[in-house]
Amino acid sequence: MRGSVEHSWGWGHCAPSPLLLLTLFLFAAPFGLLGEKTRQVSLEVIPNWLGPVQNLLHIRAVGTNSTLHYIWSSLGPLAVVLVATNTPHSTLSVNWSRLLSPEPDGGLMVLPKDSIQFSSALVFTRLLEFDSTNVSDTAAKPPGTPYPPYSLADFSWNNITDSLDPATLSATFQGHPMNDPTRTFANGSLAFRVQAFSRSSRPAQPPRLLHTADTCQLEVALVGASPRGNRSLFGLEVATLGQGPDCPSVQEQHSIDDEYAPAVFQLDQLLWGSLPSGFAQWRPVAYSQKPGGRESALPCQASPLHPALAYPLPQSPIVRAFFGSQNNFCAFNVTFGASTGPGYWDQHYLSWSMLLGVGFPPVDGLSPLVLGIMAVALGAPGLMLLVGGLVLLLYHKKYSEYQSIN
Ligand SMILES: *[C@@H]1O[C@H](CO)[C@@H](O)[C@H](O)[C@H]1NC(C)=O
Ligand SMILES: *[C@@H]1O[C@H](CO)[C@@H](O)[C@H](O)[C@H]1NC(C)=O
Ligand SMILES: *[C@@H]1O[C@H](CO)[C@@H](O)[C@H](O)[C@H]1NC(C)=O
Ligand SMILES: *[C@@H]1O[C@H](CO)[C@@H](O)[C@H](O)[C@H]1NC(C)=O
Ligand SMILES: *[C@@H]1O[C@H](CO)[C@@H](O)[C@H](O)[C@H]1NC(C)=O
Ligand SMILES: *[C@@H]1O[C@H](CO)[C@@H](O)[C@H](O)[C@H]1NC(C)=O
Ligand SMILES: *[C@@H]1O[C@H](CO)[C@@H](O)[C@H](O)[C@H]1NC(C)=O
Repeated sequence: MRGSVEHSWGWGHCAPSPLLLLTLFLFAAPFGLLGEKTRQVSLEVIPNWLGPVQNLLHIRAVGTNSTLHYIWSSLGPLAVVLVATNTPHSTLSVNWSRLLSPEPDGGLMVLPKDSIQFSSALVFTRLLEFDSTNVSDTAAKPPGTPYPPYSLADFSWNNITDSLDPATLSATFQGHPMNDPTRTFANGSLAFRVQAFSRSSRPAQPPRLLHTADTCQLEVALVGASPRGNRSLFGLEVATLGQGPDCPSVQEQHSIDDEYAPAVFQLDQLLWGSLPSGFAQWRPVAYSQKPGGRESALPCQASPLHPALAYPLPQSPIVRAFFGSQNNFCAFNVTFGASTGPGYWDQHYLSWSMLLGVGFPPVDGLSPLVLGIMAVALGAPGLMLLVGGLVLLLYHKKYSEYQSIN
């Protein structure tokens, strides 16, 4: 089972070429030097004094010459607006009466407007569930017969203020469907844990995505909800704004190193434009246990992004408020797990992490362990060549001396 998972993810059986090893080796060092930057990060829940309380979380990360704003909200489907500005003084301005109105355009602004270098948004529109009972092909798309999806616009959410943790710079949106006639979420919830960072580091839990002060991590966890079938696979539908007529693409990066996420040799990356721009990145792995490990790793599949004009997506008021009534939405599905192997059904638990950021995406250098192995592997033949060369040289010298005596 484990073998087949490795196989479908990547490199299981092909040995990387020496040239590739060398390029990876050469490029690992300079990238490793980046990400030393620190930021002053603050998390603020923006209250609506005048009306119904809604979760609006503002993460502000201030650097020497720039400010990043991550604005998360469960108003409508869960969404985040990310904005990068070239000043340490930019601020967020919220007009609640406009934001909550049917025409929220302009209800959310980052000022001054001309300091904005990049902005985009992600909207988590629906929780998908598929019956994979009769699916034997682990790469099948979709991975089974879909059940009616749960629209995240129809979820009720916890009070984000209660989950705010300034020590870890994190907060958790925890929700369940408002109408739940079959009581599948009677004991369950879908949680989005959002975390910002003041400096570059790596969490203790797999997939241990390397983060920087320019990024924000999202950990999605489905816990305790009753699946509608014996072999239910879950997924998330995610929408974003295209930067032009085309949708952003998801790129796959491969590595020979799986020290931080065992058996995962791939990193998926959504880039909104040519670098440096905004990005989302994730390892194509989810976990069916907490803490995650090799045994509970589930392969993830991301579909390509498609223009979302063809079908109605739940609309996010904060996205509309910031961007106006744009219609260049693109959407993709991420599905977690395969019909065989570990799954949500084991413990009714599933978690998946994603990193969201601006600038150059963090690139994993090779881990010390792999560098050590490479040094030995590259070193042994090198040493043999050197010794061989010396021997030849000496032999040649001896031979020529012999010749000359003769
Ligand atoms: C959320 O919690 C905060 C602080 O505990 C409180 O002031 C606020 O009224 C709460 N909001 C709701 C909707 O209960
Ligand atoms: C910040 O901006 C100033 C002036 O524009 C520039 O000299 C300095 O190098 C910048 N610092 C960083 C860290 O980018
Ligand atoms: C907020 O929006 C409302 C409705 O568009 C407008 O009447 C009001 O002046 C705005 N408030 C501020 C402080 O701009
Ligand atoms: C799976 O296959 C069996 C036998 O072919 C069939 O009876 C059943 O309806 C199928 N289930 C689904 C969900 O397609
Ligand atoms: C929810 O949990 C309680 C207590 O653990 C259990 O009795 C009940 O059957 C569960 N309900 C569902 C829908 O799983
Ligand atoms: C789930 O499995 C149980 C026991 O193996 C079986 O009785 C039941 O019919 C299955 N349910 C579905 C929806 O396949
Ligand atoms: C995601 O999956 C659902 C259920 O199969 C489907 O209706 C929807 O069109 C898919 N969306 C994308 C963007 O592929």
